[in-house]
Amino acid sequence: MTELHKNTYSVPEALAKNAWIDKAKYEALYRQSIEDPEGYWAEQAKRLDWIKAPTKIKNSSLDPKSVDIRWFEDGTLNASANCLDRHLETRGDQTAIIWEGDDPSESQNITYRELHARTCQLANALKALGIGKGDVVTLYMPMIPEAAVAMLACARIGAVHSVVFGGFSPDAVAQRVIGAQSKLIITADESVRGGKQVPLKDNVDAALTRQGAEVCEKVLVVKRTGGEIDWHAGRDLWYHEQVDGQSTECVAEEMGAEDPLFILYTSGSTGAPKGMKHTTGGYLTYVSLTHQYVFDYHDGDIYWCTADVGWVTGHSYIVYGPLANGGTTLMFEGVPNYPTPGRMGEVVDKHRVNILYTAPTAIRALRAHGDDVMASSTRESLRLLGSVGEPINPEAWEWYYRVIGNSKCPVVDTWWQTENGGILIAPLPGATDLKPGSATLPLFGVRPGIVDNDGNLLEGAAEGNLVILDSWPGIARSIWGDHERFTQTYFSTYPGMYFTGDGCRRDEDGYYWITGRVDDVLNVSGHRMGTAEIESALVAHDAVAEAAVVGFPHDIKGQGIYIYVTLTEGHEPSEELQKELVKWIRTEIGPIASPDVIQWAADLPKTRSGKIMRRILRKIAANETDGLGDTSTLADPSVVDELIEHRANR
Ligand code: WTA
Repeated sequence: MTELHKNTYSVPEALAKNAWIDKAKYEALYRQSIEDPEGYWAEQAKRLDWIKAPTKIKNSSLDPKSVDIRWFEDGTLNASANCLDRHLETRGDQTAIIWEGDDPSESQNITYRELHARTCQLANALKALGIGKGDVVTLYMPMIPEAAVAMLACARIGAVHSVVFGGFSPDAVAQRVIGAQSKLIITADESVRGGKQVPLKDNVDAALTRQGAEVCEKVLVVKRTGGEIDWHAGRDLWYHEQVDGQSTECVAEEMGAEDPLFILYTSGSTGAPKGMKHTTGGYLTYVSLTHQYVFDYHDGDIYWCTADVGWVTGHSYIVYGPLANGGTTLMFEGVPNYPTPGRMGEVVDKHRVNILYTAPTAIRALRAHGDDVMASSTRESLRLLGSVGEPINPEAWEWYYRVIGNSKCPVVDTWWQTENGGILIAPLPGATDLKPGSATLPLFGVRPGIVDNDGNLLEGAAEGNLVILDSWPGIARSIWGDHERFTQTYFSTYPGMYFTGDGCRRDEDGYYWITGRVDDVLNVSGHRMGTAEIESALVAHDAVAEAAVVGFPHDIKGQGIYIYVTLTEGHEPSEELQKELVKWIRTEIGPIASPDVIQWAADLPKTRSGKIMRRILRKIAANETDGLGDTSTLADPSVVDELIEHRANR
């Protein structure tokens, strides 16, 4: 372990004094939240405006025979009204969303009153198109205000949104449209990122030619660039034509706390992506609480989360958390290094950002340029920094703290997952001493545990698999349309506990250090991907007989994608074929799944029962061929020597 791991940063006194939560409060409230969850969460539910206040607080079983999770089940509310209407009287003219375009000369401030009006107009347009309570609307959008408007408009009328990341391919869109039986897509002609156009509407056109995708009857198109697109009369509708003439008032639908708010697809270790089902009351309570406390959000703060709304971080910490709290949230269309490598700092200065929440991969990419990369900005306005999406190595943490934060902003390293709804383990800036590389301590109501491979709970300082021992209000309730898979995936490995899929160490101070996935899920630049998804895309190519995909350590991306391919008869390895396979994956899944390394393999190491031994493939990909461990159980151990000899990661 390097010396860096030993640095600790105590809570700055001035910060503790003004913070929502200091050390004493954290300890007392954490204890209460665990000993008396009903009492704690009954109180926290009051942060929302309920139409009917809940009297039943928690009703939850994680027993694999009957997984059933409910929070606030007899309460009713509307998420959109909580993010908009209730702020109108006190902060109608306050900026809700600062939008910063890809092009630095474009930005917009949208007040709560405007956001409310625009949301109501779209909500009315959706109703006119026959969308109502329980219908699923797919959003495949650029990072423009309409993305937030669309989420809130769906919530307003009780429709369930399913946001598909704008970097995904037509097939990925089709898969999600079919999976959710979505009747309508909202998209844009094109998105703009780093000065380049992405043909969103063309991708939707292609997606809707796939078998089964005809369930989607209408496509609502925002004009973002005015780029040329095909038009399918009767199916395609311009957003502005449907929306602009609508009334700016729309009564918010009364929803049950356990009615679905959204579906969000995420990758697992097996099979197709899973549509996580998140519901209304518990989710909103949880993201409101965590946004306020983890970022120590106070009125007037300018807060910027650099995620995309296509991921859960965008849902919870660009849209729902900040808006539920009446905050000002910055939404950025572009990429952190365009048009200048220091763009991120320039945006901070331009909008006087106080709280910056980004991903380790962005920090590592900046750090690779050297400290001067931040010379184009002062970042004086910053008070707090956050990190999310993957483990942050202490070197990157220290650089973030010293260079971006001018050595005066605490860094909150926030661990959580799509399934969790909101942050589960993270420091509170006024309460928690920091150790670079550790997500530190659990938030209120969260009971982490570490188990060995047999499921025994380990006490004290320990390393093993991270589980959560009881439910919290933000946890997903199911996988859309497949509750059995939900139970199998999360509650059966260690019966009665939620299994995260992450490995973790707990140190002598009770701090948690996430060590990364212990299953076949990759985390590439903070994007989560299943190796099985990439493998099944590969074997759909007729040159590919068999494929195995593993991650390997990558300086900037955290993990890179390493692919072993065996070819079918009649196909020979070539540079051309390599390029073709890369292109194939980009169109089947999306550019985020582009492999870094392809190795042609005559054969793959398998057990006698035919199971691919990934442990060995991971070691070869990482160039750790000294410690391959026992290979005697392989059907043909000579395969391994051959792979090592031809390894492609030199
Ligand atoms: C990883 C993103 C270490 C982890 C919110 C988890 C992290 C997966 C951290 C979930 C962190 C996320 N430290 N690892 N602070 N945050 N992860 O669903 O492996 O896209 O299981 O949710 O990212 O990714 P997801």
